[in-house]
Amino acid sequence: MSEDSEWTALENEIAGCTLCPLWRGRNRTVPGEGNRHARVMFVGEGPGAQEDLQGRPFVGAAGQLLDRMLESIHLDRKEVYIANVVKCRPPQNRTPTEGEAEICLRYLRRQTALIRPRIIVCLGTPAARAVISPDARISAVRGKWIERKGFWLLGTYHPAALLRDERHKVAAWNDLVMLREKLRELDMEAQDDEVF
Ligand code: URA
Ligand code: SF4
Repeated sequence: MSEDSEWTALENEIAGCTLCPLWRGRNRTVPGEGNRHARVMFVGEGPGAQEDLQGRPFVGAAGQLLDRMLESIHLDRKEVYIANVVKCRPPQNRTPTEGEAEICLRYLRRQTALIRPRIIVCLGTPAARAVISPDARISAVRGKWIERKGFWLLGTYHPAALLRDERHKVAAWNDLVMLREKLRELDMEAQDDEVF
């Protein structure tokens, strides 16, 4: 299958998915969007009200903050890929259950396999639990790089958490600086590989 048809198949499967109970409450599935060859993939928790209506990730208040966070390190939303642990909105925006996250993770795994990003940034605890380790807490895993199977993993606060609690802003900024530095390092490595 070509890469394009794998993406189409994946998005069609998500659009029709009834594997966990979250499908019952959704208006739209929110598979994720962005550059399918991105060097950086961001992983959030799950769609909120706006995302559920529009079928797009991070378009509400948290999304606007995420856009500003990206801008602050000269990243454009179109350069990166943005996805979530679960693709359907949990009722009242509650945290997805472990079971829901585990079932839906098959799609995030396929997205990751297709994109092959160099860096995965986990936004908040549910993303860190899905990607980094099942008992992770964001306050404990943030701010340090984890290298795994050729991927660089970083945790940082979810933008919705930053909107609720200003105290994490300095730490989140430090994480963004780490991300910017890592991207610079990867650029240099890529240049070293150039023959001409
Ligand atoms: N919060 C998330 O975790 N994901 C979204 O897509 C929007 C808000
Ligand atoms: Fe399927 Fe994921 Fe939606 Fe659950 S949240 S119904 S697993 S797409």
